Amino acid sequence: MAASRKQKVVVLGSTGSIGVNTLDVIARHPDRFEVIALTAYRNVELLAEQTKRIAPKQVVVADREARERLASLLKGSSPEIGTGVEDLMRAATLKEVDIVVSAIVGAAGLVPTLAAVQEGKRVALANKETLVMAGRLVMEKAKEHGAEIIPVDSEHSAIYQCLAGEDPGKVRRLVLTASGGPFREMTRNEMERVRPENALQHPRWEMGQKITIDSATLMNKGLEVIEARWLFDLPVEQIDIVVHPESIVHSMVEFRDGSVLAQMGLPDMRVPIAYALGYPERLESGVEFLNVIEQGPLTFEQPDRERFPAIALAEDALRQGGLMPAVLNAANEVAVSSFLQGRIGFLQIPRLIRAVMEKSRNRNYETIEEVLRTDLETRKTAREEIGRL
Ligand SMILES: NC(=O)c1ccc[n+]([C@@H]2O[C@H](COP(=O)([O-])OP(=O)(O)OC[C@H]3O[C@@H](n4cnc5c(N)ncnc54)[C@H](OP(=O)(O)O)[C@@H]3O)[C@@H](O)[C@H]2O)c1
Repeated sequence: MAASRKQKVVVLGSTGSIGVNTLDVIARHPDRFEVIALTAYRNVELLAEQTKRIAPKQVVVADREARERLASLLKGSSPEIGTGVEDLMRAATLKEVDIVVSAIVGAAGLVPTLAAVQEGKRVALANKETLVMAGRLVMEKAKEHGAEIIPVDSEHSAIYQCLAGEDPGKVRRLVLTASGGPFREMTRNEMERVRPENALQHPRWEMGQKITIDSATLMNKGLEVIEARWLFDLPVEQIDIVVHPESIVHSMVEFRDGSVLAQMGLPDMRVPIAYALGYPERLESGVEFLNVIEQGPLTFEQPDRERFPAIALAEDALRQGGLMPAVLNAANEVAVSSFLQGRIGFLQIPRLIRAVMEKSRNRNYETIEEVLRTDLETRKTAREEIGRL
């Protein structure tokens, strides 16, 4: 991409943790990027503040009520305010736009992200659920429409960086690192009693609520295995997980000659965000430099698959293929929000997902509509299952 004119950017999910970090990186490069559209759901206060500061041409919120609240905060000087999925898709496919940052959380990110892919945009992909739900289709569409999907997830960004200039045929194994989350050293008995406020305390990363709970159950790593399968076109047998509590090595690639390349740095999402926005250039991200002497020893251990069954559930869904990863994703979203509402316990999250997967009939899919229908049906099954728990 030519660096001579400003790159036009849309940030889907600008009020979230990734969205805010993205705007921080962009603000460091006013000569390089121009933000054309921002989207949020109901946090209109933060969106109003971002809109006043950045002056995008378009913003999108959840519905009419959110639009009215936003318009009154912006007092007449507002850009076009859209609502709902149709307007999210419109923002993601604006002709003039070069880069779409996909930072909505959960299944809601799939449709606008796919729309951007089909418009041949560069997609800076944080919304891993897009590839979990419909990875095969999304990657096929990216190829067909010449879209670049550059991962923002720190593990996948690390792998992407380690693979730059390498022959993918010479990769033996991808190694995703996991911090292990806040319950790495807890017994199952202790885990039975954890409450949402305990699970929301991540030891290394500050993130949105859903991914923070996914990190505590290690489902986040399971989802990342599925994401890696599609991004790097490797089978699950060549994707491993190691727990690395210091979160300095963001992931590794092992090559056939015995070399292992790792990407390291302090845990701050602005590094992978800057990489996805600037690729192939490296941009200043505002992140402190890693001092390996001060950092001290780096440790690695096997994940405990018995205490954290979510990993095996995700690997199983990936092996089954077809619509099963979309079932896993929807069941997980219902389980996580039910846990956050105090309706189920922490260890019931994987139990519920397993029960829903066992109840669901798997099949292959051709269209995104089939994936979305499965998402809706699975949510219904999961809610019924909660009633039974
Ligand atoms: N946070 C991280 O460090 C991190 C790291 C790697 C990957 N990711 C991935 O990045 C994505 C975003 O994570 P996050 O932590 O930034 O989440 P977050 O802080 O919860 O932010 C989510 C964003 O999506 C918007 N949103 C929520 N529900 C929506 C819906 N139904 N329709 C449209 N927009 C909706 C939110 O708007 P409101 O604010 O108005 O609710 C907010 O802007 C996730 O897929 C996550 O797995 C995050």
